Amino acid sequence: MNRPVVAFTSRYGSTRRYATALASRFGTPATKLADLATASEADPLIVLSPLYATRIRGRRRIIRAIRSAPGRAALVVVGMSPTDDPGRATLADALVAASGRAVATFQLRGDFDPTRLGPLDRALMAVLRSRLRKTPDEPAARLILAREPIRFIDESTLDPVVAWANGLTGRET
Ligand SMILES: Cc1cc2nc3c(=O)[nH]c(=O)nc-3n(C[C@H](O)[C@H](O)[C@H](O)COP(=O)(O)O)c2cc1C
Repeated sequence: MNRPVVAFTSRYGSTRRYATALASRFGTPATKLADLATASEADPLIVLSPLYATRIRGRRRIIRAIRSAPGRAALVVVGMSPTDDPGRATLADALVAASGRAVATFQLRGDFDPTRLGPLDRALMAVLRSRLRKTPDEPAARLILAREPIRFIDESTLDPVVAWANGLTGRET
C-alpha cells in the first residue's frame, strides 16, 4: 500500500461517516469525489458511494476516478437494503464492468432518516411507499413503510475493506 486515497459522495452523511472512519485508519483525509481531480497518485483508490433509487450515486465520476487510478481500486456501496440483496451486487458489477478494470467491491449498510429528507427525496419516498404498499412483506417495504429512522451504520463493517487495502483479502471482479 503506497498512497491510499479514499473518495466519497454522500447526501445525508452516512457514506461520509464511513469514508472518514476508513481514511482515518490509513492516516489520510477523505476526499469528496467531486473534488478529486484525478486519482493518478492513488494506490489503492477506494471510492464510497450511496444507493439512491436503485442507482449508485455519481456513477460517471466513479468510473472516471477508477480509470485514472494506476493501482488497485475498490468500490464500497452504502445502502439501507440488506448487503446480500442480489440487486446490490448486480449494480456494483455493472459499474465495474463499465470501468473496464478489476475492482474489488464491498457492500455496507447506511442510516436512513425519513424525517430529514429534502423535498425531492420526500416526494420520491412518497411514490415508493405507495408502490410498496402492494408488497408490504418485502424487506425493503417493511423498512420504508415503517417511517422510523433506521440506524445501520456499523464502522466495524469497514474491517474487510481495510484488510483488502492491506493486501489481505477481497472479491475482485
Ligand atoms: C430517495 C432515497 C432513495 C433510496 N434508494 C435506495 C435504494 O434503492 N437502495 C438502498 O439500499 N437504499 C436506498 N436509500 C437509502 C440510502 O442509500 C441510505 O439512506 C444511505 O445511508 C444514504 O447515504 P448518504 O447518507 O451518504 O447519502 C435511499 C434513500 C433515499 C432518501
